Amino acid sequence: MDIRIVNKKGLLILLVIAMMFFLAACGSSSETGGEDTESEENNTEENTDTDSESEEGEQGSESEQLVIGFSQVGAESEWRTANTKSIQNAITDAGHELKFSDAQQKQENQIKAIRSFITQKVDAIVFSPVVETGFETVLQEAKDADIPVFLADRSVDVEDDSLWVTFLGSDFVEEGRKAGNWLVEELAEEEGPVNIVELQGTVGSAPAIDRKEGFEEIINQEDKFEIIKSQTGDFTRAKGKEVMEAFLKSDGENIDVLYAHNDDMAIGAIQAIEEFGLIPAEDITIIGVDAVKGAFEAMADGKMNVTIECNPLFGPQLVDLIEQHFEGESLDKRIAVEESMYTMDQAEELLPTREY
Ligand code: AHR
Repeated sequence: MDIRIVNKKGLLILLVIAMMFFLAACGSSSETGGEDTESEENNTEENTDTDSESEEGEQGSESEQLVIGFSQVGAESEWRTANTKSIQNAITDAGHELKFSDAQQKQENQIKAIRSFITQKVDAIVFSPVVETGFETVLQEAKDADIPVFLADRSVDVEDDSLWVTFLGSDFVEEGRKAGNWLVEELAEEEGPVNIVELQGTVGSAPAIDRKEGFEEIINQEDKFEIIKSQTGDFTRAKGKEVMEAFLKSDGENIDVLYAHNDDMAIGAIQAIEEFGLIPAEDITIIGVDAVKGAFEAMADGKMNVTIECNPLFGPQLVDLIEQHFEGESLDKRIAVEESMYTMDQAEELLPTREY
C-alpha cells in the first residue's frame, strides 16, 4: 500500500472530523439563540424577572429622568398651597416630568388619579391621601404594575406596608401633644373648669385623627380640662368660621379655649368670635396648627395665642428620597419632618422670615 495515499486519506478523515466538531459547535450556539426566542415567547411568565432586571439597571443610573405622578389632597388651606408648590417645584427643578392631580378633598378623585397614573405607566407615584382608609385595592394595583408609591404628608391605614415605599411627613400625634402641653402650662394657675371647643380637620384624615389623639392624651391628665364641643371644619377657613358660629351660638360665653386642627380654621373662627362680640386670644385662648403666615399675622395682631408648626416645605427632601430609591438604596418606612412651635410674642419678629 502506498503510504502517501494512506496519509492523504488520514488527512481527509482528520479534516472531516474537524468539520464535524466545527458544525456541532455552531449548532449548539444557534440552539442558545432558539432558547432566547423561546424565552421571549414565554415572556409573560418571565415578566417579573425581566422587569426587575431592567429596574436594577435603571436603579443604577444616577441622573435618570423620571415621570412622577403626584396626587394631592386639594387646595383647602394655606398650608396645602405651600406644600403643592414645594413638591411640584422640587420635581421639575430636579429635571423630572410631573403629572399632577388635585383631588379636591375627595377620595374617589384620588383613586381615579392613581389608576390613571398606572395606565400612563409613570415611574413613581407621590400620594398624599385625603383619608387614611380604603386605598388597599388601588395601592395593590400600583404594586402589581411595579410602580413605587411614596406617601407624602399623610399616611394610610393599610395592613400590608409593602404597598408603599416610605412615608415622609409630620408626626401629627406629637403636634397634638405640643398643643396640649402648651395649654396645660399656659393655664397652670387656672382652677378650672376649662371649657374647650375643638375644630377638627377632615373626618377620617390622619391629621384630624392624630391631632385629636395627641391633644387628648395630654389634657386628659387633668380633670379641669373638658372638650365641650368638637366638630369638623374640614380644614377650611369658611367651614371653621361656620362651625365656630354654631359653637358660640350654643355655648357663647362658656368657651375658654379653641383648639383648631389647622390655622385656616382658627383664622375663620377668629372672625366668628369678633363678630359675636368677644375678643379672640383674650376672652378665648386660640390654638392653631401649621404656622402659616396668616397665623403669624393674627398673632402679631394679638388675635391668636399659639401655632404648632407643621412644615409643608419638604418637596426637595421627598425628591431626594425618590431618587435614592431608584439608585437602589433602601429607605426607612417613616421619615419625620422637623418642626417647632411659635407663640404670640415671637410673631412680629418672625413674620418676615416665614416662607409660607
Ligand atoms: O395634612 C396636613 C394638614 O392638611 C394641614 O395641617 C392642613 O392645613 C391641611 O389641610
